[in-house]
Amino acid sequence: MEKIVILTGAGISAESGLDTFRDEDGLWSRHRIEDVATPEAFARDPGLVQAFYNMRRREAAKARPNAAHEALARLMQAYQGDVVLVTQNVDDLHERAGSQGVIHMHGHLRGALCAACGHRWLAPEEMATGEACPSCNQATARPDVVWFGEIPYQMDEIYDHLSEATLFAAIGTSGQVYPAAGFVIEAKAARAYTVELNLETSDVTSAFAEIRTGPATQIVPAWVDDLLSDRTS
Ligand code: APR
Repeated sequence: MEKIVILTGAGISAESGLDTFRDEDGLWSRHRIEDVATPEAFARDPGLVQAFYNMRRREAAKARPNAAHEALARLMQAYQGDVVLVTQNVDDLHERAGSQGVIHMHGHLRGALCAACGHRWLAPEEMATGEACPSCNQATARPDVVWFGEIPYQMDEIYDHLSEATLFAAIGTSGQVYPAAGFVIEAKAARAYTVELNLETSDVTSAFAEIRTGPATQIVPAWVDDLLSDRTS
């Protein structure tokens, strides 16, 4: 019984034109995390935080899935249910490429969350400061994204999948943010084969059994083609 668990990061959406975080001109070179991506920042200056996510929501809506997103959708289609895709990304490019059941462990830009009652709804393109929650009507709408200091979503489910993985792949992530950066260790504990696909070495490259280096739009389709040809041979 094969189970492929895939983790993606900002690098898989880079060639779709979306900024990564820690590359030279990445988001964290232009915005301070403590100003735009923590609960304290939202309490202190909700307008600045909403403007940051409105900008990212606009960019994500303009972006198109690339060959790497499409290759993973093809893999999921071929392996019907034996592929679990976990993403740290808050864009919806995996879904727009055809992947279903994607686990967004850091939330997603298309989601709105009520900070008071926990109600979730589809976010508007531009979320205004003090927007009312459609359920409890309090002015506590926030982007449904996981900020630093908050608990990522669906972690129990993710660890269950990792404990059953026969193959774990990390794609386009720098391995600097936990818990995602530790998934390779969990997968190895389950005796999974591990592969990293990235433009350059990450902070956890040494933990992987196999490394494929290059732009995601080249190395991810090639990797998927190898998996699919191995499967039929
Ligand atoms: N193809 C493949 N990999 C790429 C490409 C590309 N075209 N371009 C960049 N990369 C790689 C970079 O080399 C880097 O290792 O993608 C990785 C991006 O790393 P980060 O910018 O740190 O993004 P990510 O790992 O997803 O960050 C994790 O940190 O700030 C938080 O919540 C945020 O989800 C994010 C988390």
